[in-house]
Amino acid sequence: MKKKSAVHLSLVGGLVLLVAQLSLFGLLLYPYNPHHHTFLKDVEAVANITSKLHMSVFAVDSQVLQHFTNHENDLRSRCVLCEAKYPATFVTLFTGLKQSEEFVFLLQQARFHVVTLQNTNPPEVPSGISINIPICYLLKRNTVIHLVLFHERDGNYWWHGNLLSDPRAISELSAFGLSVHSVQMMKTEGAFDKFETEVVSMSGIPFLIPKDIPRFLHDASSSRFIECSHTLADSFHRSHGRDTTHEALRFVHRAWKLLSKTKTLLDKLGIRFWISSGTCYFHQCDIIPYSKDVDVGIFITDYSEKILREFLAHGFTLKHWFGRVNDSLELSFSSGDLKLDIFFFYEDGPYLWNGGTQAKSGKKFKYLFPRFTLCWTEFLELKVRVPCETQAYIEANYGSDWFTPVTHWDWKSSPPNVRENGEWPAEEWAEVMRVYS
Ligand SMILES: *[C@@H]1O[C@H](CO)[C@@H](O)[C@H](O)[C@H]1NC(C)=O
Ligand SMILES: *[C@@H]1O[C@H](CO)[C@@H](O)[C@H](O)[C@H]1NC(C)=O
Repeated sequence: MKKKSAVHLSLVGGLVLLVAQLSLFGLLLYPYNPHHHTFLKDVEAVANITSKLHMSVFAVDSQVLQHFTNHENDLRSRCVLCEAKYPATFVTLFTGLKQSEEFVFLLQQARFHVVTLQNTNPPEVPSGISINIPICYLLKRNTVIHLVLFHERDGNYWWHGNLLSDPRAISELSAFGLSVHSVQMMKTEGAFDKFETEVVSMSGIPFLIPKDIPRFLHDASSSRFIECSHTLADSFHRSHGRDTTHEALRFVHRAWKLLSKTKTLLDKLGIRFWISSGTCYFHQCDIIPYSKDVDVGIFITDYSEKILREFLAHGFTLKHWFGRVNDSLELSFSSGDLKLDIFFFYEDGPYLWNGGTQAKSGKKFKYLFPRFTLCWTEFLELKVRVPCETQAYIEANYGSDWFTPVTHWDWKSSPPNVRENGEWPAEEWAEVMRVYS
């Protein structure tokens, strides 16, 4: 009897020890952290509600996503979500006001404090977006969660709002113990090409993540969006009338098609471009019928020989090639009876400049622009880039009275930012001034 209980005792003792060892091992791998625990409970509760409403939730935090690019295989044992910057930011798709109300209702039932920020005060009423639509939720039970809403726009991409478009944003944030600076996303409006996703499980909670994470992170770093000015467009048309002749409408339609094709080709090559001037008065989201060409800008650092090949292969004809890759490069294509000018921009101290060449004299010109960065905009249902510093860019090129339509324009003398820039040496003309009929 005594022997038997001794065996029992040592068995039980061994088991207890084993369990203790195992849990210690577990703790080492996945240390219990009360903050992580309440954080995960909050996230799980939100995920339960979104799943009930069939809402997709994207994990977008760069720290979190990084783990999936490195093909780490110990993700199960760690709280990857806990590494998200505070407040944890997720994205969901806006699918209507009714669902939004239901979502908020269920969150409140689960004892979340919910604030919905709205696109209350946009400087412009965007084409695809109305005012007073929800742009994000701030949620708090134990921890704060920032849930950003992606809205589908006419150009078939996702748009998110600017936090500060809601005048309540700052006070609401501070009630959550946050400042504007602590919020990662929505400091500006943003635009993303729709991306493919895959489902992953983090701490047992399912999320969608972008399939191409490096591309998503790259897009996120240059996602700033500005709305073009519909008010300005309207006032322009009020004071100058709108050319609605058949000819004008036909031109606008063809110019749009040319721009759309240009976008398709350059997007395929992964080359950034922006609407530069002329026909496309991006400041007012419109194509102006009295001009005859479409101008786009490309940073010379993005130049590739593939551009010429791609355009020639898709029905464009090269009209002229001016300059060299290291100086004043400008390509001009025709497509039907429209012209597409591609101007390449060079850095020089506080300026960005592009070159001009007068074929008959070999004279060179330089157009100076204060440095600018690129933003997305929606231009006639196309997601395209424009200089973020739109006004400064236009004023450099057209002066401060750019709002008046110009019919007499000399590219060598009219722009206030044009400078003479010497001449191409005669022996180089054949190389730097190639004109095709
Ligand atoms: C989420 O749903 C699962 C399954 O219904 C449930 O077991 C879990 O307790 C829920 N979690 C929270 C935090 O509500
Ligand atoms: C550009 O390259 C040519 C040779 O292809 C050279 O002669 C010229 O000096 C270069 N110009 C500049 C501005 O670097």
